[in-house]
Amino acid sequence: MQGALTLHQTTVGKKVIMAVSGFILVGFVIGHLLGNLQLYLGPEAINGYAAKLHSMPPVVWTARLVLLFAVGVHIASAFSLWARNTQARGSRYKQRKDLATDYAARTMYWSGPILLAFIVYHLLHFTILPAHPGDVYRNVVEGFQVPLIAAFYIVGNIALGFHLFHGVYSAFQSLGANHPRYNNYRRDLAIAICAVVTIGDLSFPIAVLAGFVTL
Ligand code: HEM
Repeated sequence: MQGALTLHQTTVGKKVIMAVSGFILVGFVIGHLLGNLQLYLGPEAINGYAAKLHSMPPVVWTARLVLLFAVGVHIASAFSLWARNTQARGSRYKQRKDLATDYAARTMYWSGPILLAFIVYHLLHFTILPAHPGDVYRNVVEGFQVPLIAAFYIVGNIALGFHLFHGVYSAFQSLGANHPRYNNYRRDLAIAICAVVTIGDLSFPIAVLAGFVTL
């Protein structure tokens, strides 16, 4: 007799896991943006904020472990949904059923890997091997004064914007909020979150390159 399938074994279950882990990551990205906005208040503000966070190792390490876990299950579920989709794709003469879903899925499969590469680089750049440990302001401004580095951040954050838009929009669907009456709100909320985060994050490298934020 076939045993009951656990949540992570079903397609719906994997989508719910992607949605819940995605919302944890969206929460971090919004909080991170709010912290980074202190760049505009000058070195004391942002360096003081970073020092305060680093003076609470249990808080920092709990957040890191939650994020790591969320990124891990998010990527694992993405791979397994992708593998399932590839296997399930039948004859190529068959009509594609849902062009909108296909478009969103394709967007996730290019923006996801770019985002992952960006995050690995970003962690090495500012957290693991910072040029000036403890001086976040100097690390960020000196970093973005190099056009190639600023360009990489711009590309990474544009990928994040696409990923967030389709992610938030489909996450609500996976969690059951898929009703014609609510779909416009769902889209508007996805646009609002994506616009705030993308414009906010892009503003940092652009402000430094334009000379609005200097050492
Ligand atoms: C232009 C936009 C961004 C800027 C200026 C920025 C800046 C920074 C800085 C300065 C740190 C080091 C903080 C410290 O050592 O106290 C940091 C850490 C981090 N950033 Fe960003 N960040 C940006 C975008 C992002 C994005 C889009 C993501 C994720 C999608 C991200 C994820 C992280 C993570 C995971 C850490 C490590 C936190 C830790 O474990 O200490 N950042 N960021």
